[in-house]
Amino acid sequence: MADLDGIIANKDKDYGIGVPVANQNFFLKGSDNLDWGMKNRLSRIFNPETGRAVMLAFDHGYIMGPTSGLERLDLSIVPLIPYADSIMCTRGALRAVVPAAMDKGICLRYSAGSTMLTELNNECTIDINDAIRMNVSTMAVMVSIGGTYEAKTIENLVRTADMGYKYGIPSMGVTAVGTQMARDARYFALAARVCAENGANIVKTYYTEDDFAKVINACPVPIVIAGGKKLEEKAALELCYKAINEGAAGVDMGRNVFQSANPVAMIQAVNAVVHKNFTPDQGFEMFNDLSK
Ligand code: 5RP
Repeated sequence: MADLDGIIANKDKDYGIGVPVANQNFFLKGSDNLDWGMKNRLSRIFNPETGRAVMLAFDHGYIMGPTSGLERLDLSIVPLIPYADSIMCTRGALRAVVPAAMDKGICLRYSAGSTMLTELNNECTIDINDAIRMNVSTMAVMVSIGGTYEAKTIENLVRTADMGYKYGIPSMGVTAVGTQMARDARYFALAARVCAENGANIVKTYYTEDDFAKVINACPVPIVIAGGKKLEEKAALELCYKAINEGAAGVDMGRNVFQSANPVAMIQAVNAVVHKNFTPDQGFEMFNDLSK
């Protein structure tokens, strides 16, 4: 029943007279003008307290089949989820193995179409209704700059971003690396910028030893890095550290976590480097301690 007393006897109400309403600046680069739903979903990928992200990538099966470490997602991946801010996976893996009660962000692999047995990146995108049904936080689309399917993959991103803006779901451009492409800052700066200009709200790319800060600064939206092939744990933590300290907003890491000698320890060490500013030495010490 309506509380008429509250309206009549209003002398105790606090209207905060004299206290200006604070402006809310959103914490992520290039995201201030996005709609509320977009920002809310981005806050499930990037931790609002640090502005950074630990994304656990295990979408490899969509092009590589049962990748080492991912043969049994229920056994290898589900125990790692509590230590990540978000997971990156296909809709098949999400529905089959990820507990629906988990409270992490979801980066859905939103494009697919070919495997490593043929030519990569000849892809189409998923139906937006499925992304909505699964309550995803961002949609990841492969973008192959300079590759055979450049136009098609950019169109996939454009269409995804169109749908994303319509329904408040951010898009992530994933920069594919063709076999003939130089993996240098010049290339990744171009690829990352093309993704952002075409509507991506997040860009996933690779760390470059030289001039990575130029890749970051030339991209108007947050960049997360892929881990790439398995490295020694200390080297993988150094990669995270350098990327974060040179401006990356997070890591979207797969093989260097789930192929580690101790994946549960490794993801916690990665998390400490990303969110707690641990040095690679401190992170490696943590990895060793947790592995005892
Ligand atoms: C492939 C991807 C993978 O998710 C990505 O490469 C992350 O995994 P890894 O750290 O093993 O490279 O986006 O396109």
